[in-house]
Amino acid sequence: MKVFITGGAGFIGSHLAERCIADGHEVWILDDLSTGAIENLDPVLEHPKFHHRIGDVTNEELVSELVDRADVVFHLAAAVGVKLIVERPTHTIETNVRGSEVVLKAAAKKDKLTFIASTSEVYGKGVKLPFAEEDDLLFGATTKSRWAYACSKAIDEWLALAYHRERGTPVVITRFFNTVGPRQTGRYGMVIPTFVRQGLAGEDITVYGSGDQRRCFGYVGEVVESLMRLAKQPAAVGQVFNVGNDREISINALAELIRERTGGRSKIIHMGYEDAYPDGFEDMERRIPCVEKIEAAIGYRPTMPVEDIVDRVIEAMSPEEDA
Ligand SMILES: NC(=O)c1ccc[n+]([C@@H]2O[C@H](COP(=O)([O-])OP(=O)(O)OC[C@H]3O[C@@H](n4cnc5c(N)ncnc54)[C@H](O)[C@@H]3O)[C@@H](O)[C@H]2O)c1
Repeated sequence: MKVFITGGAGFIGSHLAERCIADGHEVWILDDLSTGAIENLDPVLEHPKFHHRIGDVTNEELVSELVDRADVVFHLAAAVGVKLIVERPTHTIETNVRGSEVVLKAAAKKDKLTFIASTSEVYGKGVKLPFAEEDDLLFGATTKSRWAYACSKAIDEWLALAYHRERGTPVVITRFFNTVGPRQTGRYGMVIPTFVRQGLAGEDITVYGSGDQRRCFGYVGEVVESLMRLAKQPAAVGQVFNVGNDREISINALAELIRERTGGRSKIIHMGYEDAYPDGFEDMERRIPCVEKIEAAIGYRPTMPVEDIVDRVIEAMSPEEDA
């Protein structure tokens, strides 16, 4: 199979590329390296079936050429991360909406199976737990930039479903919940790599808000497995799927877990959201995926315990011992 991954030098994209190469597929990736890094691709860079292009996903000519070559397209390129979104809302909206528009337009021309990466953020301030795919979406005011990310991804979903309905384009929408594992960077506000870096350095571990907010964390390898299975499942076409682990942990408990497993030298401190995000930030107390739909479709869902995920991240981020 020939696979095209936009955002393939990113966290999820690089794991997906590696998995596709291991399965014997031919892989092309396109990435502008804005939040991704070429080093993420070190394990596959020299492989004869791996090809990469540095460029923008809004470049119609380039995207069209790469989509034409592929049997399946995974569109992961996006402006990602709470910090980036609050700091650069224009860039977020334009990259996420325009990028999907360009990919879907090219895919529709040749009926290419196309995965659109969406997010649990689209459930917004929903309080009916767990979040199921048919639930209503509840966004905050447009004056709060953090909702620009959720809305841009919701538009991507609508556009993909519109292509499917009107043109028969085979699209699959995956709403990723917090996906974590080695290679994720803490630079853009992601919680596990941030806490692990702080713990390994013996610095204070900074929890925003009360820390009572709870989250679910899915291991990236299991998210990639879900994508590979969905790609083989014709009944997935035209559907929206939650992809995530449904076990919850509070951010305080996560901070304590990481403190212990990184040697116990750090102190856990709490900071107000306004210290990190002056623009007015709203965070959700809980966010749990309903995973019944994906489990029924592919007989699989991410289940790795957060303790094991944290250990893998610590191992990947630990400085190498001198020989
Ligand atoms: N990691 C998560 O927890 C999570 C949760 C929900 C949704 N998602 C979605 O999954 C996808 C992948 O996220 P990730 O966590 O791997 O983030 P990431 O930032 O590591 O990956 C995104 C990649 O897209 C690239 N990119 C950004 N703008 C681009 C552009 N204009 N042209 C070409 N490439 C561009 C970046 O350089 C990066 O390599 C994104 O669409 C994101 O919205 C991720």
